[in-house]
Amino acid sequence: MTTKTTRAVGVDIGGTGIKGALVDLEKGELLSDRVKVATPAGAEPDDVLAAVQSVLDTLGVTDADIPLGVAFPAIVKNGKTLSAANVAETWVGFEAEKFFEDGLGREIHFANDADVAGIAEVRYGAARNVPGLVMLTTLGTGIGTALLYNGTLIPNAELGHLQRAHHGKDAEAWAAYSAMERDELTWKKWAQRLQWYYSYLEFLLSPDLFIVGGGVSKHADEFLPMLKLTTPIVPATHRNNAGIIGAAALAVS
Ligand code: BGC
Repeated sequence: MTTKTTRAVGVDIGGTGIKGALVDLEKGELLSDRVKVATPAGAEPDDVLAAVQSVLDTLGVTDADIPLGVAFPAIVKNGKTLSAANVAETWVGFEAEKFFEDGLGREIHFANDADVAGIAEVRYGAARNVPGLVMLTTLGTGIGTALLYNGTLIPNAELGHLQRAHHGKDAEAWAAYSAMERDELTWKKWAQRLQWYYSYLEFLLSPDLFIVGGGVSKHADEFLPMLKLTTPIVPATHRNNAGIIGAAALAVS
């Protein structure tokens, strides 16, 4: 007799924090408290591994029988990380999935952080049963993007790195939540930058829905109403937990 796996652990590695929880895969909800540690300065692999291990220890989920999904803020292809915008350069071309599996002594499932947030929202949130093109964006240290077409993820979209014409800077350096903090912007000033960014995405891809995730999505009322777009734009149902929930969901798919 086989029993359906209804629980998994999700760990969401970000440029600023590493968060994890045990997740109920039927409801798409956290079953434990959310454990968070700071991303180690420099975000070198050994330090990130130790931080992930400490999250798992605190959660008390070191049992390899519980599936584990890990999300990472970079392009992830065939287990390798291929970029490093807000982590150490060492991750470029690095066998990251194997590195975590060897270091943690267990199997993991590994993917891009925005992509897993997209998976969470399509299964349990704002993208559920939405036809056409849904674009999820996470506004945090960087800008992560996930493209979902009729519920299917097109992985590794890196639209946080669109360039601002004449300024030679990534979109995320201008419009991520970290840019608001760095430049001490008011909601209104930040919304002007977001207006540029979402209008540009809208022009390039004509999506049917924008979903906004990341920690700041809990304050969506402060800035989303200021945006003038043709495309509807809503906060992620799971706010900043979408990455944890999606990483866990990935672990049993
Ligand atoms: C990275 C993406 C990531 C996003 C959010 C960007 O800088 O290039 O891979 O999804 O940050 O963490």
